[in-house]
Amino acid sequence: MLNFWDASWGLDERLCPCDVHFAEYLEEKGIKGASIFHFGTGSHHILGLRTAENGSNNAVLGITASPGEYDAYIKLLIEKPRLGATYKAYFGDIYQLDPRLLPEFDYVTNFHTCEFRTEKNDAYGALTDLEFTLVLADRIRLGGEMHFYTGSDGYKATLAVIEGLKAQRGFTDTGSFKTLRILTKPR
Ligand SMILES: C[S@@+](CC[C@H](N)C(=O)[O-])C[C@H]1O[C@@H](n2cnc3c(N)ncnc32)[C@H](O)[C@@H]1O
Repeated sequence: MLNFWDASWGLDERLCPCDVHFAEYLEEKGIKGASIFHFGTGSHHILGLRTAENGSNNAVLGITASPGEYDAYIKLLIEKPRLGATYKAYFGDIYQLDPRLLPEFDYVTNFHTCEFRTEKNDAYGALTDLEFTLVLADRIRLGGEMHFYTGSDGYKATLAVIEGLKAQRGFTDTGSFKTLRILTKPR
């Protein structure tokens, strides 16, 4: 059976502010027309919604492993068809990312690495945390960024993934924004 997430996450900025912080980062930097891969939409879909409504023309491809969160997206899209122009969410396991199906991104939010993978993913030959991170790294444009959430439950284990990203793809630390740590792909 797929290691799906049998829960649904509403917006709670005190507990998990990463999506809001990333939206603020884009807005403060005045980023426009960028393409973004987003790990973990939540049922609130705040990043896709805010991006669609703030005039930035940024495009977001979000992934959720929660049937409830995906249902929420379908409902939102039916109610707000303009949302679908720049925000696509899909249901799936990030540990099954296939680079052949991914466009190039300017930004990747790798917020929930090392939080959800278990032996259930092993049972169907899914990627590891480092492997899917490298798949995404290879789809980031030169000079593009991967953001990590320092408040993640998996952040301690993610430090080894970040080391792998640096060692195997040459990404460098280029700063932070609120709870986010920013790694940039060399030009
Ligand atoms: C704690 S919620 C956080 C949601 C949102 N980023 C936020 O901070 O409000 C974790 C998110 O990770 C997603 N998720 C969990 N396991 C996943 C997997 N294997 N593949 C893709 N998404 C997954 C869930 O669907 C959920 O959206």
